Amino acid sequence: MILMYICICSAITDKQIKTAVANGASTLEDLQFELGVAINCGRCAESAMELLPVPEFEHHLHATEITRSRRQAANDTQLTAAVVAQ
Ligand code: FES
Repeated sequence: MILMYICICSAITDKQIKTAVANGASTLEDLQFELGVAINCGRCAESAMELLPVPEFEHHLHATEITRSRRQAANDTQLTAAVVAQ
């Protein structure tokens, strides 16, 4: 059996999160309370949330937000390069 650690800080695996979801956890706050996921550095929060049952439209909104953030970062990089070039 292969374990995939989702939260390194609290040593929480995907199996533990899936079990918590099967037992009724439906939010990141549930996982934080029940397992201690994402209570230290927080880097695991997004991976943990991907294991939660989420309505399809929220996945779409999240993907849209990521795309918007990447576009903004690209614009910021281009703006910085233009300022440096002057
Ligand atoms: S990896 Fe989960 S809180 Fe740091």
